[in-house]
Amino acid sequence: APHGAVSMSVVGCGYLGAVHAASMASLGHDVVGVDVDAAKVAELASGRSPFFEPGLGALLVDGTRAGTLRFTTDPAGAPGATVHFVCVGTPQRRGENAADLRHVDAAVAQLLPQLKPGDLVVGKSTVPVGTAERIAEQMAAVEPAATLVWNPEFLREGHAVEDTLSPDRLVYGVPEGAAGERAVAVLDRVYAKALAAGTPQVVTDYTTAQLVKVAANSFLATKISFINAMAELCEATGGDVIQLADAIGHDARIGRRFLNAGLGFGGGCLPKDIRAFMARAGELGVDQALTFLREVDSINMRRRVRMVDLAREVSSGSIVGRRIAVLGAAFKPHSDDVRDSPALSVAAQMSLQGADVVVTDPQAVPNAAAKWPDLVFETDLATAVRDAELVLVLTEWPEYVALDPAWLTPLVARTRILDGRNALDPARWRAAGWTYRALGRR
Ligand code: UGA
Repeated sequence: APHGAVSMSVVGCGYLGAVHAASMASLGHDVVGVDVDAAKVAELASGRSPFFEPGLGALLVDGTRAGTLRFTTDPAGAPGATVHFVCVGTPQRRGENAADLRHVDAAVAQLLPQLKPGDLVVGKSTVPVGTAERIAEQMAAVEPAATLVWNPEFLREGHAVEDTLSPDRLVYGVPEGAAGERAVAVLDRVYAKALAAGTPQVVTDYTTAQLVKVAANSFLATKISFINAMAELCEATGGDVIQLADAIGHDARIGRRFLNAGLGFGGGCLPKDIRAFMARAGELGVDQALTFLREVDSINMRRRVRMVDLAREVSSGSIVGRRIAVLGAAFKPHSDDVRDSPALSVAAQMSLQGADVVVTDPQAVPNAAAKWPDLVFETDLATAVRDAELVLVLTEWPEYVALDPAWLTPLVARTRILDGRNALDPARWRAAGWTYRALGRR
């Protein structure tokens, strides 16, 4: 093995685990990905990504060919590994706000009998604060010479590989004393390249490390809902939320990033993370500290309702029987993830209210159709918009942002477009004779 290479296992090969495993192998480490899903393991092992993520396919091909990246369903399939990453999902519990920890518990139960003295277990999953402390106790009872590190992950879907290889920061939650110091040294070897490039590092305790993750996502969600609340004000007053965001964003203390007003946040992280955080605060008796997140959640959900209202407004008061083309199904561009997708929730609402909705997306149609069997999907954009009386852009894929109104005009029945992400150029569409409307601006 190359100098500095670490032998590691990655338990859970979803978005987080598959990207982490492939990225670690690309750094020269010896990696075994472990997952219970045999179909997923077979795809990954043959160098194919089970989901759309730019850059991941190439790393999978390279790693599996070189033999430094393997995948298995065998829980004991990485006997040589000394560092074990826990990358399983923590979805929202059905009908509750709290996180479902069954996959984390299963991953730990699977690792415990394999632990050797000196091994590291590295938690990357997003968990309710207190989980790491509990796992550390379980480990101490079985192999006291193994150490737990809490090392939250901040990758964004669509940019997952670059975020993993060049993160904004590395956070290690470690125990006090010699075991903690040793764990830091081992993880520093794992992340040697990013550290050499100057990535800031925060070494802290388990509790803080777990909180950092949910605090970061809560702040991001709050930023989005803040600007969407301003959009509501702009809608009531005739102001322009884009110019407002630009203007406040010039204040470096505020910053322009994550102030894009529109349909709001979705996906497998921000919505469930703020809800799980509120639930955990309730358990800890400090729910008041996070009641503002309830408001963040409601502002976010109101944007979807507002979008449907706007569709009705521009359709002379009724969408019943109207052909409506929805451009975008993924919760954000460069992803085929449809978990809690604002675009699909708007499409479903309009469909329920009697509109004749056709949804298209460059990547997410298979996932969307599997999850929303009652909606009509179309992979070809020209077919999706044919005879539409209204076009809605709900996910800002570059191909939708670059759409030429002159190309679209002969295909549709009426030239009306709603921009759910404030991603199009209003002047261009209006100059081409279209009715253009967006959230938060005239
Ligand atoms: C988010 C965080 O950004 C990551 O740092 C974190 O690691 C990840 O969750 C996680 O917990 O695993 P992700 O869910 O991939 O990443 O997507 P984001 O880029 O954060 O976008 C979330 C949603 O917010 C999308 O629906 C997006 O359209 C929306 N958004 C984003 C806005 O409506 N406005 C903005 O200005 C930015």
